[in-house]
Order: sequence, then structure tokens, then C-alpha cells
Amino acid sequence: MTPSILQYLLETSAYPREHEQLKELRMATVDKYDYWSVMNVPADEGQFISLLLKVMNAKKTIEVGVFTGYSLLATALALPDDAKIVAIDPNREAYETGLPCIEKAGVAHKIQFIESDAMTILKDFLSNGEEGSFDFAFVDADKENYINYHEELLKLVKVGGVVAYDNTLWAGTVALCEDEVDKETLERIGENRVHLKNLNTFLAADSRIELAHLSIGDGLTLCRRLK
Ligand SMILES: C[S@@+](CC[C@H](N)C(=O)[O-])C[C@H]1O[C@@H](n2cnc3c(N)ncnc32)[C@H](O)[C@@H]1O
Repeated sequence: MTPSILQYLLETSAYPREHEQLKELRMATVDKYDYWSVMNVPADEGQFISLLLKVMNAKKTIEVGVFTGYSLLATALALPDDAKIVAIDPNREAYETGLPCIEKAGVAHKIQFIESDAMTILKDFLSNGEEGSFDFAFVDADKENYINYHEELLKLVKVGGVVAYDNTLWAGTVALCEDEVDKETLERIGENRVHLKNLNTFLAADSRIELAHLSIGDGLTLCRRLK
């Protein structure tokens, strides 16, 4: 998507409907993290996730990679009052930057924040009988582990549940061929391009899921568990 279309989309459709505390959280993140505020999902993607969760009637979800909590707050606002969201991130400081906005929005009671790397917690949940108990999972953390998360999350979400992976277009660089790009650019893009290309190929061949790869935000892949 060209930058001007994206800007049009955000300004015309997304920002006018952005919840007040999501806006506040986005601004608080820019104030504290400056360039790295780009890690928050954009407003249009937050709204897509919100709508999807409502259509699914989701009540129990898991979030891998919280940062200051934009996608987490979008999720918490979308779910019913008795819902539960497990949110995992080793960076408590970033979570606490967004927490006042989450509290002001009146949805903090739905969230269980766990300060940890995600893999340990996913494995703990599986050994504690949580298999098939989640409706939805949103993965937006260490890209090199996406395929490993997929194996655990496919067991944790119920049949018919959805696992969503963020950044699966990696600024469009997954579409670049190695011989089209100079070495310096490849180094700047980093290893994540390779991890995400591998994930995209892997998911396309995975018969356990129904797949939709969307060009919203930085690319969002939805995987619906079939068996
Ligand atoms: C792109 S940000 C998440 C942004 C968030 N979804 C939002 O919309 O605001 C990625 C986060 O993943 C976290 N992270 C990195 N490695 C992780 C791991 N092994 N387990 C869980 N979270 C991790 C980082 O600390 C960072 O806060």
C-alpha cells in the first residue's frame, strides 16, 4: 500500500473511530519511545482485530508481545466484561507505560499480565491442562520463534479458534529477491525478513489451518485451527 493511501485510510476511517484511551496510549508511547512507537499496531489493524474478536464471540485470548499495549487495549475493549486475556512480555516497564490508559478505559480486570518470555508460559499452560481453551491468540513478538509459537498455540486454541501473526509482510521486504537487493539493504532489513519468509511458506503448507494473509498494517496472517 502506498504511504498516501495508508494516510488516507487512517485519517478518514481509523482515527475518527479510535477509542479515546487507545489514542492516549498511542500518544504516551510516542512520548516515551519516540521511533520505537512504530511497534504499536496501527489504528486500522486494531479496529480489524476488535471487529474479528466480536464476530468470533471470543472470551479467552492470549497475546504474545505486549509492549505498551495498543493491541492489548484494543482486545480488552472488544471482549465482554467477564473475558480473560493472558498478556505475556518480559518488558514490564513498557506495559506499565500504557497501563494507566488501560485502567482509565475500565478494562484492566480482564487482563492477566505475565512478565516472562512467552515460550515458557505457553508450555506451562499446556502442561496445566489449558489445551484447546483459548478462542484467539495474537502473536507480535520475537519473529524467529513464530514457527515454534505456532506449534504450541495450535494446541492452546480450540478447533475453530484463530492464531494471528503480525508483521508477516515485514514492510514488504518478504517480497524482495536476494539478487534484487544490495548487501547493505539486506543487512538493514535484518534476519526477520528471512524468519517471516520461512513462516509464510510454512503456514501456506500447513493443512491443520485455514489461512488468510492480509495486507493490513505490516501484514497480518490469520490461521483458523481446523483439527
Ligand atoms: C512489536 S512489540 C508488541 C506491540 C504490541 N502488540 C502493540 O500493538 O502495542 C514486541 C514486544 O515483544 C516483546 N518480546 C520480545 N521477545 C519476547 C518473548 N520471547 N516473549 C514475549 N514477548 C517478547 C518485546 O518486549 C516487545 O514489547
